[in-house]
Amino acid sequence: MSVDEGRALRLLLVEDNPGDARLLQEELKEVPSVRFEVRHVTRLADAVQVVEEPGLDVVLLDLSLPDGHGLSNIERLLQASPALPVVVLTGTDDEQLAVKAVHAGAQDYLVKGQVTGPLLVRALRYAIERKRAEEGLKREEAARQTAVFREQFLGILGHDLRNPLQAISGNAALLLRYGGLSEPQRKAINRISISSDRMARMISDILDFTRTRLGGGYSLQRSWVNVHDVLRQIVEELEVAHPQRRFELSVSGTGWGDWDADRIAQATSNLVGNAVQYSPQDSAVRVVARDEGDGVRVEVHNMGTPIPAERLPHIFDPFVRGGEGARSGSRTGLGLGLYITHEIVKAHGGSVQVRSTEAEGTCFWLKLPRHPPPAKS
Ligand SMILES: Nc1ncnc2c1ncn2[C@@H]1O[C@H](COP(=O)(O)OP(=O)(O)OP(=O)(O)O)[C@@H](O)[C@H]1O
Ligand SMILES: [Mg+2]
Repeated sequence: MSVDEGRALRLLLVEDNPGDARLLQEELKEVPSVRFEVRHVTRLADAVQVVEEPGLDVVLLDLSLPDGHGLSNIERLLQASPALPVVVLTGTDDEQLAVKAVHAGAQDYLVKGQVTGPLLVRALRYAIERKRAEEGLKREEAARQTAVFREQFLGILGHDLRNPLQAISGNAALLLRYGGLSEPQRKAINRISISSDRMARMISDILDFTRTRLGGGYSLQRSWVNVHDVLRQIVEELEVAHPQRRFELSVSGTGWGDWDADRIAQATSNLVGNAVQYSPQDSAVRVVARDEGDGVRVEVHNMGTPIPAERLPHIFDPFVRGGEGARSGSRTGLGLGLYITHEIVKAHGGSVQVRSTEAEGTCFWLKLPRHPPPAKS
């Protein structure tokens, strides 16, 4: 990267001595190949205000000002604008002070009275270049740390928490299968089994969230899939879990597409699961699939208290949950279901939308293009 050729460089000159300030500005004009737009202030307090505005390229800072003296001048400026390159002006040829200034965050120093135009311009340009390189390194370091954090976090969720949980649910299932339990014992172990399954689902939702939020995203395992089959299976499973509920599944068209079957099952089952969870016991949950354009459309509909209009624009955000819509006694989740559905559909190049009113109930529908969008070149 090089300092932008052609454009005038915006310099803030912080210098209280009028003679020195004039001299420096004249020296700058000695180098016609680089243009400077100079803003001149005489007090540190004014400088601190100016650097907070965007657009400056570099600061030339006198270390002895009426309202600030020495290295603390550098610190105060950098506190206000940490990414700004600063070149300091010292009154004497004091090597020690210069070193300290650089330690305090200045890019370079110049000794008053010894400054020539070319020297000044070079110092300012190098200061800009060096600061940019430093900022680039800082960004890389931050990205690296995020990646390390992500790996640790995914590791904790994926192995450290999931493995013991699998032991709990596996052994609970085993005990139930052995039989010979008293009724209270069977009930207790059944609760252990249900709760650990629920926790396992939450952990995999948080894993999905972490993957999408901290980079990585979904890697889809596409194959030729029929969404009608996927929906039939989901509805059957929910019928088993909620034998008292009424489900209406109606499919038409072909239903075929190039999708990740497990992810599509996850996305649609979040919707159908919500429809069951957030509607009255005696109402039906309706699922409709049909071909539309070059893809399919899946609608999931339920009655019950609508989602308040002011929550609709945020309904696909992570950790949005609750509200009076939930049936009393129903367990609340993490508020990740719709977020994950949205991410999965997006990864497939599709879209998901919602409409919710008192009269018509709540309807989520998603559109899935049959084929992946052409790769961007
Ligand atoms: N079909 C629906 N009818 C009414 N309200 C709904 C419906 N689907 C979702 N909601 C509302 O939107 C919120 C967010 O739903 P989402 O599926 O993202 O999270 P959740 O169901 O609370 O938890 P999770 O799905 O992570 O277990 C729910 O808490 C509920 O208030
Ligand atoms: Mg949900």
